[in-house]
Amino acid sequence: MKPPLVVVTSPLPGDALEMAEGRARIKVYRSPSRDEATLTRRLRRADGAITLLSDPVGGSVIKGSPRLRVISNYAVGTDNIDLESARKRGVVVTNTPDVLSEATADIAWTLILGTARRAIEGDRMVRRGRFKGWNPNLLLGMDIAGKTLGIVGMGRIGRATARRAPVFGMKVVYSQRKRLPASSEAALSARFLPLDELVKRADVVSLHCPLTPQTKHLFNRNRLKLMKDGAILVNTGRGALIDEGALVEALRFGKPAAAGLDVYEREPLLADGLTALSNVMLLPHLGSAGRETREEMARMAVSDCLAVIEGRAPEHPVG
Ligand code: DGY
Repeated sequence: MKPPLVVVTSPLPGDALEMAEGRARIKVYRSPSRDEATLTRRLRRADGAITLLSDPVGGSVIKGSPRLRVISNYAVGTDNIDLESARKRGVVVTNTPDVLSEATADIAWTLILGTARRAIEGDRMVRRGRFKGWNPNLLLGMDIAGKTLGIVGMGRIGRATARRAPVFGMKVVYSQRKRLPASSEAALSARFLPLDELVKRADVVSLHCPLTPQTKHLFNRNRLKLMKDGAILVNTGRGALIDEGALVEALRFGKPAAAGLDVYEREPLLADGLTALSNVMLLPHLGSAGRETREEMARMAVSDCLAVIEGRAPEHPVG
């Protein structure tokens, strides 16, 4: 009997796939499978799949892959997968939680500091030869010490982001569906606020909640209008948490004063007008892009995929 087939939709960092030697046949694709038809063709004979957050694993893909037993998503977010279809067909879904929390929190802070202190505008000015010497009024930004950081979604990444706040002298408020126990709030020195209250009070709002039908466009035109004058919006979660078209409009009027984005609504496409704005810092979804983090994510994804096809329980099942 042939060993089971594991399809990997993109080359992964590190040597995690060596774990599969003698246990599974591995087929690695080199170009992204951005539509369901391509992905279905690729997974047609697969027993296991290691997918990226950009792979649209919709119901038709799952239905068109009759042998599939596991979708091991190389990400903590699983909004690219039709979880209900997977559940109905008995396909196990796994993800890569925890390991990327610190790296993603670092990128949230890169965006907070970069936007607050206008680092990208400064870099551009220097490169273009427009730096004419020190000037008391040059690129004045927000002093973050003493200001309030509003965390939307106090999960693992939200908490890692909150833990860094005292070092920069920022107070933390947070919002999410379920309030944390008092002991966790005390440990994080974080105060719970209903979302709109948080939006009105925070100087920096940082998004860390998962994308679900309930959180899609959580930051729409109306909510953006509630932001405090001079406030900054940072997103390292998922692009569609923000109505990106509405954000471009809002940024033109300086409310929010600036935005730091690592994720986009129609990644890798950007909303019209976004790149023309000087008050945005734009990163190419680097949240988890630390070498050790990405290599460990690969080990987790491969190990969980092999576990399921070998009839064992995976360590990181979703749902
Ligand atoms: C994830 O794992 O969901 C992240 O967005 C990857 O950086």
